[in-house]
Amino acid sequence: MAEVDDKRVDSEEEESDDDELPPDFFEVKVVKNRGSVSAEAYGDWNKKVAFVPPVIPKSDEQRQRLGECLSKSFLFSGLEVKEMAAVIGAMNEVKVEPKSRLIKQGDDGDCLYVVETGVFACSIRMPDGSEMVVKHCEKNDVFGELALLYNCPRAASVESTQESIVWRLDRDTFNNIVKDSAQQKRTRQEEFLWKVPLLQEMNTADRAQVAECLREEMFQDGQSLVQQGDVGNKFYILEEGQAVAVKNGTEVMSYSAGDYFGELALLRNQPREATVTAKGDVKVLSMAGSSFKRLINADKLEEWAKKYE
Ligand code: CMP
Ligand code: CMP
Repeated sequence: MAEVDDKRVDSEEEESDDDELPPDFFEVKVVKNRGSVSAEAYGDWNKKVAFVPPVIPKSDEQRQRLGECLSKSFLFSGLEVKEMAAVIGAMNEVKVEPKSRLIKQGDDGDCLYVVETGVFACSIRMPDGSEMVVKHCEKNDVFGELALLYNCPRAASVESTQESIVWRLDRDTFNNIVKDSAQQKRTRQEEFLWKVPLLQEMNTADRAQVAECLREEMFQDGQSLVQQGDVGNKFYILEEGQAVAVKNGTEVMSYSAGDYFGELALLRNQPREATVTAKGDVKVLSMAGSSFKRLINADKLEEWAKKYE
C-alpha cells in the first residue's frame, strides 16, 4: 500500500509546484475528473490530470498471492513495477460459490476478473437459445476484459464451475493503467497468429475467435507438454522457443515459433502418439479440445498429418 500512497503524493506534488496556476484550475480538475486538460489553455506542463486509483486495504499475504497471480497473467505481466503496485492496490478479492454467474452476455461491463483458484466456464448463446461453453478459465486467466478493451457489451457469460477465488479490477483503473499495455499485447498476439500457416486462410472474425480461445502457457527446458499414450485434451501452437517430438524413443519432429502439435489425439479420439518436450524455455498458446473441434479445419489437419507417415 505504501507504494500506492507514494504515487498519490508524487502526483499531488507535481501538480502543486507551479505558482502560475490559472484561478479556475481546481474547478477544472473536479469537473473534468480523469479527463485531459486542454494544452492550449494551460500549457504543456499539465496535459493530463493524474488518475488516482482506489486503494483497497489488504493483508501482506493477500498482496503476495495477488502479485503472484498477476505476474503470471497474460494481460498484466508486462506492467511496470509502479503500475503493478497501483493495480494490486485497486483490486479486491472475491470468494465465489459454485455456479455463480459473474458475467452475463449482453450486459455492460464495469470490471474484469483474474482467477486465483477454481474454474470458470465462458459460454455463448446459440440461435436456438441454448448456451455453448467456448472456454474454461483457470488459475491466472483473465475474463471480462473484452468489454473494457473494446467498449462493447459482454461477449459471453461466465460462471464458476466450483468454489473459486477471483480478483476484481474496476473499469477506471483498467482503462487508466492497464489498457494500453494490454492492447499492445493483444495486437502483438494477433500479428503472431496472422503468421501461423494453419490460421492464414481464416477470415479476421474467425481468427479473432481463435485468439479468444487461446491460453498462454510457459514451460521450462526439459518439461513435457504432451506425453505419448496420454489422453489428449489440448492443442498447442508454439509461440516462442523450440520443442521436439519423440515417438517410441526416436526424435520425429522439431518445432519452432508458429508450428503446432497435439492435433492427432483430438482429431482421431486416440491417445497421444508422441511426447513433446520443451528445448529451452518455451511459450505456447494452448486451446481446449472443444474449441479446437469447433474452430480448426479438421480436413486440412488430416491432410497435413500425412507428413508423419
Ligand atoms: P467480456 O466480453 O468482457 O465478458 C465475457 C468474457 O468471456 C469475455 O470478456 C472474455 O473474457 C471471455 N470469453 C472467453 N471466451 C470467449 C469467446 N469465445 N468469445 C467471447 N468472450 C469470451
Ligand atoms: P498427438 O498425438 O495429439 O500428440 C503428440 C503429437 O506429436 C501429435 O499429436 C503430433 O502433433 C506430433 N507428432 C510429431 N511427429 C509425429 C509422428 N511422427 N507421429 C505422430 N505424431 C507426431
